[in-house]
Amino acid sequence: MMIPNAMNIAEQTDAPPIDAEIFRAAMKKVATPVTIIATGDGDLRHGMTASAVCSLSDQPPMILACVNRNSAILPHLRANGYFSANFLDEGHVELAQCFAGVTKIYGSDRFNFGKWSTLATGAPILADALSVFDCRLECEYESSTHAVLVGRVEAIVKEGSTRALIYSGGRFGSPTPL
Ligand SMILES: Cc1cc2nc3c(=O)[nH]c(=O)nc-3n(C[C@H](O)[C@H](O)[C@H](O)COP(=O)(O)O)c2cc1C
Repeated sequence: MMIPNAMNIAEQTDAPPIDAEIFRAAMKKVATPVTIIATGDGDLRHGMTASAVCSLSDQPPMILACVNRNSAILPHLRANGYFSANFLDEGHVELAQCFAGVTKIYGSDRFNFGKWSTLATGAPILADALSVFDCRLECEYESSTHAVLVGRVEAIVKEGSTRALIYSGGRFGSPTPL
């Protein structure tokens, strides 16, 4: 049996189309983590702020990251076959803005900000991140706009603070316990 992918499901449905603005407004309310996805070495490092990053499974340990097909990092990530997912701490707002292109800094120059090292795969690892997952690219799925990347985790750092940086309502924040 053929398993339909996201693109041919969209072609098959009779449901009325969802307005993209309504979709964005609904999704904007949702709180997400903020990560920096990074790959490469030295002057060939690339990094990008990404919220669409989550756990896929713990056995085997895998994470999932959604990366726009137009983003600069994607061809390098594919060629290298590895990436890190650095979950940011509440003190990392400026770093998140830098790696989102807000400050017009590109390529390896973004790594002049923050303290970076390497671990198992060679991907850049942010020293004071909340937690870090160092991944080998296992496989990917293509949607019309994004690559959905599955990373097999080879190393973890979890000694960072416990105050996560989150993004909700178009603003950065940090969670308050109820
Ligand atoms: C809070 C936040 C979350 C983001 N999440 C994603 C994401 O999950 N996937 C993605 O492709 N872009 C995401 N972006 C946009 C990229 O960070 C932005 O397009 C960046 O400039 C891409 O890097 P580049 O300029 O090197 O291509 C996010 C931006 C922000 C500010």
